[in-house]
Amino acid sequence: TSLELGSYSHFMQKEIHEQPKALADTIEPILEEGFSPALFGAAAAEVLPKVEGVLILACGTSYYAGMVARHWIESIAKLPCQIEIASEYRYSETFAKPNWLVVTISQSGETLDTMEALKFAFSLGHDKSLSICNVRESALPRASNLVFYTRAGAEIGVASTKAFTTQLVALFALAATLAKLKGQLSVDQEKQHLDALRLIPGSVQHALNLEPQIKLWAERFYSKHHALFLGRVLHYPIALEGALKLKEISYIHAEAYPAGELKHGPLALVDQDMPIVVIAPNDALLEKLKSNMQEVRARGGELFVFTDLDSHFTESEGVNVIRTPRHAGVLSPIVHAIPVQLLAYHTALQRGTDVDKPRNLAKSVTVE
Ligand code: G6P
Repeated sequence: TSLELGSYSHFMQKEIHEQPKALADTIEPILEEGFSPALFGAAAAEVLPKVEGVLILACGTSYYAGMVARHWIESIAKLPCQIEIASEYRYSETFAKPNWLVVTISQSGETLDTMEALKFAFSLGHDKSLSICNVRESALPRASNLVFYTRAGAEIGVASTKAFTTQLVALFALAATLAKLKGQLSVDQEKQHLDALRLIPGSVQHALNLEPQIKLWAERFYSKHHALFLGRVLHYPIALEGALKLKEISYIHAEAYPAGELKHGPLALVDQDMPIVVIAPNDALLEKLKSNMQEVRARGGELFVFTDLDSHFTESEGVNVIRTPRHAGVLSPIVHAIPVQLLAYHTALQRGTDVDKPRNLAKSVTVE
């Protein structure tokens, strides 16, 4: 059963490797229904057409899934989207936005801050809510009008992996469904998005196959005290997630920056002892990112670059490159999440930390 380790050393490793299946299972109903309100529960056909904006509330890794989704909701559905850390939102002095959908994202469905943030949104006057959740009948889906259950299966490792990538699928389906309801998605575009989703489990498997190469990088990482992760726009949240994973399980201090912001501070930290991980997909920002990388190289920083197969990147002195599969378009963050999970996992292994139960952290945080 999914509660047993089988041939794996840790639940985190097992859960990382379960992603092709978790993703395929989560994608299956979307391929069957298309981008239809039916994916989000019985009330969705009534609620979703009225939605004029989206407010996302979440914590931790789930919050980073929301950060990716904000770009999808604005670019695909052309709806305004705001994202707030649940523990901050619940204490903010703000106001309800009429006809906005409040989306909570939570693996466990029991995170207290996220629940309290949702209640606060209701108290302000919000009345439309969607829970994206991995645990059936948990508190958040029970408190929400609409629900999308990710089909990741039980996640035991404290650091979230397969829940994150399946949340991204759910959020992409939300963006595309809202787009369709708003008349923003042509039949052709819908087909393209569905085809792209169909390819995701295979691309993720390809990324998992990079494990031996990533392990070699981890051998050079484990003695470091600090690391910097860079990404831009859709992939800045993946840089954040890479830094979070590394600090949670290996206890190496890591920070993420949108690469264009380097010159406003973090460049001062760069020297030969600071590895810099770059999420560099083959998208419109690749050339900009390359010049951000030059700035780092010029200060002696060693670069560890995750790029796509088709991006013509070459290794050079101080520039190490691992190639993930062919560029996955707007779904690329799902594929690029995998190598940073593996890097954190193998770095933690080298350091001998308790990967599945990092010190001071809990899987489900039901206290404030
Ligand atoms: C804890 C876990 C994280 C998780 C966060 C939010 O901090 O250690 O892995 O991302 O809670 O949890 P949720 O269940 O709401 O997604």
